[in-house]
Amino acid sequence: MATPSDSTLPAPAFRARSSAYLIGIIVCVILMSGLLFGYDQGVISGALSGIKRALGLSPLLIEVVTSWVTLGALFGSLAAGELADRIGRKKTVLTAAVLFILGALIQASAPHTAVLVAGRLVVGFGVGVAAVAAPLYGSETAQATWRGRLVSAYQMAITIGIFLAYLVNGALSDGADWRMMLGLAAVPGILLALFALAAPESPRWLIKQGRPEAARNILARLLNKDDCQAELNEIENALRLEAGAVSWREVFKPIYRKPLAIGIGLAVFQQVTGINAIIYYANPIFAASGFATPEAQAAATTWGIGATNVLSTLIAIAFIDRIGRVPLLLAGLIGMGASLATVGLAFQFFEAPGDDATYGATITVVALVIFIASFAFSLGPVVWTVINEVFPSRVRSRGVAISTAVNWAAAFVVSEFFLSLVQVLGRPFTFWLFALLCLVGWIWIYRKVPETKGRSLEEIEQLWHDPSVNTVRP
Ligand code: BGC
Repeated sequence: MATPSDSTLPAPAFRARSSAYLIGIIVCVILMSGLLFGYDQGVISGALSGIKRALGLSPLLIEVVTSWVTLGALFGSLAAGELADRIGRKKTVLTAAVLFILGALIQASAPHTAVLVAGRLVVGFGVGVAAVAAPLYGSETAQATWRGRLVSAYQMAITIGIFLAYLVNGALSDGADWRMMLGLAAVPGILLALFALAAPESPRWLIKQGRPEAARNILARLLNKDDCQAELNEIENALRLEAGAVSWREVFKPIYRKPLAIGIGLAVFQQVTGINAIIYYANPIFAASGFATPEAQAAATTWGIGATNVLSTLIAIAFIDRIGRVPLLLAGLIGMGASLATVGLAFQFFEAPGDDATYGATITVVALVIFIASFAFSLGPVVWTVINEVFPSRVRSRGVAISTAVNWAAAFVVSEFFLSLVQVLGRPFTFWLFALLCLVGWIWIYRKVPETKGRSLEEIEQLWHDPSVNTVRP
């Protein structure tokens, strides 16, 4: 490709302003996508009681209304990889924003359950599209020096979205304003659409489309002259290596077996250890453990779950590159398993109303705070980080899309069947089952997941050719 001449590059002062502006827009796109993802995950726990009263839902329909966002997200994440390649990263994020707005409006105005469920599916599809497209867009437009922090910021935005949803739930405490709760998601949806419209397209995608001039214009606004040329060369080299279409089937070839197993395994353990059972059903869990009023339940959910989730994510951001991914995962699973076992015990021994119920409520709150904190510094951010690191570049976008879809499928199964599980097994055994799965996850991660801290993506790629990879620890 031609070297850009000095005259085609913007003047340094303009470039600095323009660069800060573009980076700001890119960061806003990522944060707003995470925020919407989190808001849509969290808001249902507060809206449920109002929906139940207004539409007279059966337990099965309650599960459907709760969990079909996840089902939509499963299909959205599978579609996103394809869409992002065809129409570009920017327009894919824009599509997600339009789906968020549409879904929010459909839910807010739903005259009956079927329309509400349709709205949940539309929003879910948007969540899935955003969950793949936003980190992909971010990782392609960000520079290596701030790429890692951008992915962590995305997870942080998810937790802030959940926290905001809980605050809204608390403010509209008895769920009567459920239409408002669900409809409010249109506001950040509109903001995301505006940011996406102002955002630059991914230079990498533009080059892939045979539009190097457009890519160079964007890079010239983001970087200085030397970095701009180096980045163009790097993208072109990487694309040359990826020559030839990659099919879905290729991801399942034996040479990619190990990274695929790790991506899928981590995606499954992040969900089957119970996070979204707690995120979605926090209020009813607190109600069952002795919090009598909706206000008390909402406060326990907002501060015990929501705020703890945000703050503990900061621990991961601080330590993920220092002590590594595997130690954080293993430590987190110990905290999660122990606290889930304790919640089971609290339900077993203190469920009867009376004085003991206060003990039960206290123990449950403390244990769930420890559970959320342990998840937020480990499986929450670390799983997404590792999923985005383990796949060789040739199959990365497909591998990430498959792992993300499996994550949603597992989330769907857990949220769909949690209430039924409670009915069949009882509360104590349901929580003990989650605790047992933490133990299984711990053993699997200890044996199968290599440490990726401090390794370049190429070094990680080399790991899969090493027969002793399962025990490699730097
Ligand atoms: C998970 C979500 C979960 C959220 C909670 C994310 O990493 O993928 O399913 O609701 O963390 O903070």
